[in-house]
Parts: sequence; C-alpha cells; structure tokens
Amino acid sequence: MNEIAPSPGWQALIDHRRALAGRSLTALFAANPQRFAQLSLAWDDWLADWSKQRLTAETMALLVAYARERNLPAWIAAMFAGEKINLSEQRPVLHTALRQQGDAPLAVDGADVIPAIRTAQARMRMLATQLRGGARLGATGRPIRYVINLGIGGSDLGPRLVCDVLAGPRAVRGDGIDVAFVSNIDPEHLSRALAGADPATTLFVVVSKSFTTQETLKNATSAREWLAAQLGGGPALGAHFIAVTANAAAARAFGVAGADVLPIWDWVGGRFSLWSAAGLAIAIRCGWESFAELSAGAAAMDAHFRDTPLPHNLPALLALVDFWNAQASGMSQRVVVPYAHALSRLPAYLQQLVLESNGKSVMRDGAPSSRPTAPALWGEPGTDSQHAFFQWLHQGTQAVPVEFIVPVRATHPLSDQQALLVANALAQAQALMTGRPLAAVRAELAAKGMAPDAIDRDAPHRVCPGDRPSTTLLLPELNARRLGQLLALYEHRTFVEGALYGINSFDQWGVELGKALAGPLVAAVRDGVGSADADASTRGLVAHVRTLSRRV
Ligand code: F6P
Repeated sequence: MNEIAPSPGWQALIDHRRALAGRSLTALFAANPQRFAQLSLAWDDWLADWSKQRLTAETMALLVAYARERNLPAWIAAMFAGEKINLSEQRPVLHTALRQQGDAPLAVDGADVIPAIRTAQARMRMLATQLRGGARLGATGRPIRYVINLGIGGSDLGPRLVCDVLAGPRAVRGDGIDVAFVSNIDPEHLSRALAGADPATTLFVVVSKSFTTQETLKNATSAREWLAAQLGGGPALGAHFIAVTANAAAARAFGVAGADVLPIWDWVGGRFSLWSAAGLAIAIRCGWESFAELSAGAAAMDAHFRDTPLPHNLPALLALVDFWNAQASGMSQRVVVPYAHALSRLPAYLQQLVLESNGKSVMRDGAPSSRPTAPALWGEPGTDSQHAFFQWLHQGTQAVPVEFIVPVRATHPLSDQQALLVANALAQAQALMTGRPLAAVRAELAAKGMAPDAIDRDAPHRVCPGDRPSTTLLLPELNARRLGQLLALYEHRTFVEGALYGINSFDQWGVELGKALAGPLVAAVRDGVGSADADASTRGLVAHVRTLSRRV
C-alpha cells in the first residue's frame, strides 16, 4: 500500500481529463443515449445519478482501475477485519462492528469485541426504556422527563441529526421524552436548554470519549451547579447523570454512578460514534426499536460496501466521483443540499465527518501531499437555499459540484407539497447543467416585445452559463432504516476518498493545536495574566476584551 506517486493509473486519468476538456455536459448527453444508464446506480430502491458530472463511462473505468492500483479493495477488507488502519494512533476502525447484525466474532488484539458491544447495547436499551417509561427517578423521587445531551463534535452532531430526523427535539406529539443537545461552551447554549426546565425531572447524558473535552466538562459542571442550587449537592445528584466515555474513572470522579457509565472504545472514532452508546440520546428520544432499525440500515449498506465489486459499489463509485472532482479536476468546494427539512443538520454533520477525516495535507507515510485533499463542504436544505446561495451556484464565477439528496415520499404529507419539493430539486440540477444561453435569453426577451437596445442591456445579466456538475441521490423516504443507510453511505465514501488521497482519515491532530493554545488564553481573558508570550495581534485583542468585559 504505497503512498501516491506518479503512476500509470493517475497518468491515464490526467490524459483523459485533457481529452475531455471543452466537452459540455449537454454535448456529452447528446453524444451518448446510454449516458444516464451508464452513470447511475440503483440499490435497494435508492437511485444515485452522477450523469450530470463532468465525466464519462470511460472516466469511471479509469477511476476504478486507479482505485485498484491504490489497493482500495484491500483497504476496505482491512477496515472490516479490524486491522489497525488508523496508523498514526495504531488503532482499528470498527464503527461497523457496532451495527453488525449477528454475533460472528470480531477480534481486536486477540479478543472478540462483540460480547462487550452486546452488553453495552443491553444497558443502553434498559436505560432508554426506563427513561421513556418514567421509571428513572431523580433525587426527589420524581420521574425524569427531560434529557439534555452534553457533548461536542462526534458526541453531538450524529445523535442530534438522527433525533432531528426521526423525532424532532421535543416530544410535541406526546411521544415520549424531550431531548435537547448542548455542545457549545457559549453559556447561551446551556442557558437556553435549561430555561423553564425543572431540575427535579431533568437528566444529563455527558458524552465524551476522552472525558477531557473542555466544552463538555464545563457544561457538565455548570449543569451540576444548576441542579445543586435547587436540589442540594451530594451523591443524590448522581441520579441526574449518565456518562458515555472511554474514560470511566474520570466519569465516576465527576460523580456519575458506575452503573450509569456506558463504554465507548478507542476503535470507534468520535465522528463515527453515533452507533455506540454515544447514540444513547437517540434511543431515549426515538426508542430502542428506531435505534436498532437505524443500525440495521447501516449494516445493510456495510454489507453492500464490503461485498460488492467496485464497478457496482455505491459508496465507492460516489467517492470516485468526489475524487475526480477534487484531485483530477481541482475543485476546492463541494455543496450538499438535502431536499428534506429534517436533514437540516446534515451539512454540519458532514462537515465533521468529511473535513475532520480528510482535511489533511500529509500522506500516510508523513510526506506532504502534492495534490489537494478534501474540498470545503457546505450546504443548507432546499428549497431555502434556492433563495440564498443558489444565485452563486448558477451565475458565480466558480463551478462547484452540488449534491442533491432527495427523499421521494414525505414523512408527514401536506397537500402536494412533497411533489413541489422534489420537482424543485430536479429542476435545480437540470438548470445547473443546461444553464440559459445568451441566444435563448435574447429570443425570450424579444418574444416579450422588449426593444433591441433594452435586450442588449439586460440579456447578459440573465445568462446562466450552465455546465455545472451535480449528483442526485433519490431515496424512497426518510425513516430510521433509510437514515442508517444514508449515514453509512457517507461514512464509507469518506473512507474511500481518504484512501485515494493516500491519507489517514481517522486521526485529527490539527484540532489539538487550538485546544492547547486556548488554555493560556483562558487565564489571559478571564484573569488578565499570562498573554505576554502571545503575538501582538492576540495581545491587542486580549487587551480589548478585558476593557469591554470590565464595562458591564
Ligand atoms: O474535534 C475534535 C474531537 O476530538 C472530535 O473528534 C470529537 O468528536 C470531539 O472532539 C469530542 O471529543 P470527546 O468525545 O472526547 O469529548
């Protein structure tokens, strides 16, 4: 598994890209009646269509050949087998084990991990069932009715997204227990979640793999102070906390009872952890059956990804398209637009998944990457985003690949709104590709009776250049099973992209620097000491912060 070096496969891709230059998407469609069939894939009622990307069936064949040259099948097998593919931390990457459907043994360092997973799942299920059924009592003997998940990054984004999609944060339909998510150290976040809450019936799930993350621990400490102010301190407060962590000793030291500390293992990366007990909030808010269904959906995608040859492998093929855009075509951005309001938080979730995984500039062997890695990723739900940044997509100076994620059936239908939603998604993809050429604009304006000089003046502003690439993912509907498939699809795509970039997708050392520098600056901001070593800009900012803080 050598790092990327000039290779026949890469050279073939570059030569091919040159040969494709100047051929528009509409010309490629005109030249090949089979284009849609060749550049789309149906799987389990999904349809992925990348025929509006700037590539051809030959490109895909070259990309598959390149992926084989990069040993992609061996990397996939190594991940599922529990090999230590997180090289810089010498860890396996086994989030797939968390959703494994049978009990087939899976060894890490010689020990089967499946029994420990089943034990943790049984405890999750019991806790979720107790909470939902009003059987978990707080310090005053009243049942818990409100749960606040305290965690950040992977300890927040995945569980929050799933709860958003499957249930919404509040039990507005009288279906169970309210769950809120607090991640930010900004006191406003926790304050808003606590507003109107009753300490006697509120429980906090502290999710932190490390149990050292400043934001989470500070919020947990403030939560404990809030409880103590009304309920009194002492061990009784333990009834109001559950912890999910790989650092059980720290959780117990914080005051969580041993039976309420659930495990997470070092072979589960934070951004892949919603399938573990880090997803307890999902089981609490949506019920154990939904959590199990979510896992089953992900497992179905895992099996497809593990067992399907590359030319028919959905996550691999979509990742190859991403790779083509990023490295062969040099596109530095990627836009994701879910046409499902419940997926509003999907772009935020994907930002951690994709950018924390593949925002690297060093190859696995420590050498600098000579080619770009993960493009910036951003997005918002459609149709709202059509009235915001789509202007930029249609007429801005850069062509950026867009991903349309479109569940076909509505969860709660109203009138014909779902048909309008889906039609809008398809229309945007079409408009990005076809654009609106000058001649068509001029003809349209003339047909409306506009004077020739007014046409000369207005027409250029109405032209849309088109030829802008997109992929459309159609899925039948958004339920737990489909969501599990969607999230696993993106996890595997991200892994494949990283493997093709030649980087380790499973560490995140870049995040550590900011954490280290924040320590001394806390003392400077709060107490006015210790920023002497900082640069002039930082010292100036600290001084102004101190001045403004004193003015209250
Ligand atoms: O952002 C860095 C990071 O380590 C993420 O990878 C992780 O999901 C998050 O912080 C939270 O970490 P922890 O679960 O240890 O509190």
